[in-house]
Amino acid sequence: MGRLKTMQEAAFNFISLFSNDIGIDLGTATTLVYARGEGIVLCEPSVVAIQKGTNNVLAVGQEAKRMLGKTPGSIVAIRPMKDGVIADFEITESMLRYFIKKVQAKRVLVRPRMIISVPSGITEVERRAVKDSAYRAGAREVFLVEEPIAAAIGVGLPIEEPQGNMVIDIGGGTTEIAVISLAGIVFSRCIRIGGDEMDDAVIEYMKKNYNLMIGERTAEEIKMKVGSAYPLEEETDIEVKGRDLITGLPKLVKVNSEEIRQALDPPVREIIEATKVTLERTPPELSADLIERGIVMCGGGSLLKGLDKLIGDETGLPVIVADDPLTAVALGTGKVLEEIKYLKKISLASSS
Ligand SMILES: Nc1ncnc2c1ncn2[C@@H]1O[C@H](COP(=O)(O)OP(=O)(O)OP(=O)(O)O)[C@@H](O)[C@H]1O
Ligand SMILES: [Mg+2]
Repeated sequence: MGRLKTMQEAAFNFISLFSNDIGIDLGTATTLVYARGEGIVLCEPSVVAIQKGTNNVLAVGQEAKRMLGKTPGSIVAIRPMKDGVIADFEITESMLRYFIKKVQAKRVLVRPRMIISVPSGITEVERRAVKDSAYRAGAREVFLVEEPIAAAIGVGLPIEEPQGNMVIDIGGGTTEIAVISLAGIVFSRCIRIGGDEMDDAVIEYMKKNYNLMIGERTAEEIKMKVGSAYPLEEETDIEVKGRDLITGLPKLVKVNSEEIRQALDPPVREIIEATKVTLERTPPELSADLIERGIVMCGGGSLLKGLDKLIGDETGLPVIVADDPLTAVALGTGKVLEEIKYLKKISLASSS
């Protein structure tokens, strides 16, 4: 028995030597790839530019994002992931294939095993879609891991201990709030509200209050530069360029950070409410742990100025933003790749 096991392990290590196993955070806004033994090797926007009316891919990632909203009639830039899940199956597959090829330029002897993070609330059908895409894009084996668990591992929380840990991951399409203990999710809530809704809220605000039509990229820029969830020490102004809805001409208006905070309030409130619901549903023993351990925030949305402070005020708990909130989930998938013990414990049951 012992010998057999050693042989199996040797075979496993041998195969690992030639295959480039990867962890993927397939996000609504950004896709990150972690290669075993190397770390994060790719971080690009989840955007694909295609020839209109066809599925001909013209550009993927960074290059495609630059085209977003600025494409001539014959080209469309698509974000194939929406609300954290696959909205366009074929395009997602092309995107995955492109990214995988890009990180595997050197070694292609054995097809890779892949660990892909998915929102904790997704349906069986949605899971299937992610797996199928990965297989068709060239995976040998696919494992799915729930994003909050990957995030918690990524930021280094002691998830295997019998202790409550709370993670809030605010992405582009979703916000996931989870309480984790003993390597499992005790309670989680996934709302389809994230950075994208914040951008939409800014677009709506400019339309309603200034008759100004702005694009997604401009809205995101405003949010990142002057957006906030809590009064700033110094409120600032920003010049916003767009198209006047009445005259149809380009127009420039000045907006201040207090107005943008007001614009962002509805999505921010939803995140606060979901956090409170999660806390209400948490078993008392674990709630007690949270008083000391607090909440860890990650995901790009956690960078919204003052959001940590507001959540701290509203919940009365200490809140920390992860050191590198944008890579937490990808790093977590990477740690799972490096340590097979995690994989057995936390990968979602596979039905393939
Ligand atoms: N400094 C910032 N302030 C506010 N929002 C930010 C900042 N930096 C990034 N974001 C937002 O974070 C979001 C992207 O975060 P992230 O990369 O974690 O999402 P994702 O993992 O692709 O999405 P999901 O997990 O929902 O699939 C975008 O909406 C982006 O605008
Ligand atoms: Mg994410």
